[in-house]
Amino acid sequence: MDRKMVADNSYWIGYVDDRKVPFHRLILEKGTTYNSYFLDTEKPTIIDTVDISFGRSFVETLKEYIELERIQYIVINHVEPDHSGGLPALANKAKDAVIVTTELGAKELKEMYKLYNREFLIIKDEDTLDIGGKTLQFFETPYLHTEETMITYAVEDRALYSCDIFSTHIATEKLFNDLVKEDIIEDFKGYYSLIMHPHRPYVQDMIEKIRNIDIKTIAPSHGYILRDNPVKYIDIYDEMSKPKEDKKALILYSTMTGSTRKVANHISEELKEKNIETIVMNIKEDVDLGEVREKIKESDAIFFGSSTRYADMVGGIEKVLKMLKYMKLEEKIGVAFGSYGWSGEAIEIINDYLRNTDIKLVDSSYVIKFTGIDNLQFPLRVKFAPKKEKIEELKESARIVKDILVG
Ligand code: FEO
Repeated sequence: MDRKMVADNSYWIGYVDDRKVPFHRLILEKGTTYNSYFLDTEKPTIIDTVDISFGRSFVETLKEYIELERIQYIVINHVEPDHSGGLPALANKAKDAVIVTTELGAKELKEMYKLYNREFLIIKDEDTLDIGGKTLQFFETPYLHTEETMITYAVEDRALYSCDIFSTHIATEKLFNDLVKEDIIEDFKGYYSLIMHPHRPYVQDMIEKIRNIDIKTIAPSHGYILRDNPVKYIDIYDEMSKPKEDKKALILYSTMTGSTRKVANHISEELKEKNIETIVMNIKEDVDLGEVREKIKESDAIFFGSSTRYADMVGGIEKVLKMLKYMKLEEKIGVAFGSYGWSGEAIEIINDYLRNTDIKLVDSSYVIKFTGIDNLQFPLRVKFAPKKEKIEELKESARIVKDILVG
């Protein structure tokens, strides 16, 4: 058997999928690999598995390396089925193995694979685990690719098992970047743009965590294992994920009792905190439309807010919204918001106006598709004056808008 060694006593045990693989509304024309790793230590450890379609053959392959009952740890860096899909078949054979993952990862794996009676070891950022002859250190990397994700560093080997991060979608038997003659950068960057770029602030956080560790090999979950110049690939991520330029936000609102003003101010505070130059304007009946038009032209993100009175907007905000169809807004993003007492129709009417312009409308659908985050509601609806929990949610929403903005 041709064993592919990643480090001393550490082997690639994945699967090369040379089909045209459906993935995130695309077809991976060059296929992909699902990279799983076997660390043959005193406490034998598996890091990630393979796609759910190949779970059984994965277990058969692994039997050529070890009696499955001897496996003590199964590290799951990321729960998506192209990584954790072999877990049910493996856990069924490796009955005493402890599953090592983040708190959210454990919750999701239990649900996905009915693993309610398994022992889990819950990992927090920078925790370490002695696997007998090697030390593993874990770093939480939320949203790279989904919220529960972490990565695993084998300290003595200086090997970073980076999961989706630093991956490439390509079906290759060569596996190691130093064995490949062609330039892999285009495929590497293509993967980054598709999977990681929407989460670029988190990419920056991740780079800050790993900059201080000594990395000899990056062993990701898809495509090439990077043992020739791994730092070059970290630098590419760093460069591609850096905020590119200064952006400006404009928050326009009309208010009845002052609650919508409070919403506007909370959004503004958070944006300013994140270094977005932000202007807040109260739009009254006698609004100077010329002045507002100029401010909109200068801005990259515009929030439009109103209280709801008799199922309609208040103040002069509708005059502003009517003006938008005569403006070029395709490079800008728009968000509707407002405070209300009963149904909050004004917020939805604002959304309708924005939908009829060429502005990029940030609604819940857009946020899910852009970031994968599904627990925030856009447009921003606040019942009465915003209270503590709602203020936190508004701030989180403002951060999302900022992330979209600096892309
Ligand atoms: Fe490779 Fe997030 O899946």
